[in-house]
Amino acid sequence: PRSIFFSRHGESLYNITGKLGGDSDLSPRGLKYAEALPGLIAKHMDGQKLTVWTSTLRRTIQTGQYLPYPKLQWKALDELDAGVCDGLTYEEVEDQYPEDFALRDDDKFNYRYRGGESYRDVVLRLEPVIMELERQHNILIVSHQAVLRCIYAYYLNYTPDELPYIKIPLHTVLKLTPRAYGCDVELYKFDI
Ligand code: F6P
Repeated sequence: PRSIFFSRHGESLYNITGKLGGDSDLSPRGLKYAEALPGLIAKHMDGQKLTVWTSTLRRTIQTGQYLPYPKLQWKALDELDAGVCDGLTYEEVEDQYPEDFALRDDDKFNYRYRGGESYRDVVLRLEPVIMELERQHNILIVSHQAVLRCIYAYYLNYTPDELPYIKIPLHTVLKLTPRAYGCDVELYKFDI
């Protein structure tokens, strides 16, 4: 059966400082993850064909840079756009936009950042990606926390309430194998 592999990008400089969004580079640890990824993926592929999909942001492209497979960049795989809050930390958002901070907490799925997106918006923009995923063989998606939550929720039938809180850890490859009923999930964690 075909498999869908997912990974968040390796740790980025913004992950270290706790800033939202942006287009930062990988940290030294994130780069180590990128270096380790080809070995782990090869182990689970048994010579089968694979295509790598990344977002158009530097941190996912850098994470996939050593993978010896055909690659495609999708704008639709870019991180949820935090609009005016892009580049701020959660503390700064709470400080500068207290009402928004509370609204997001109330209804995280529907809350749309000023000048940006909601999780609902991301689910909609992912529709073509998911359609294409259904037609493909083995794919590795290197993307971002919010986007991977949406794809994961689609395959595992999470509700809109649960979706924005799904834990997608850093430096971990998730393998989904769709079955007649449901989906098998395996996790491969790197100690980096
Ligand atoms: O912190 C990493 C990150 O991908 C941010 O860039 C993004 O805004 C955030 O996670 C999404 O998580 P949440 O919706 O829980 O704030």
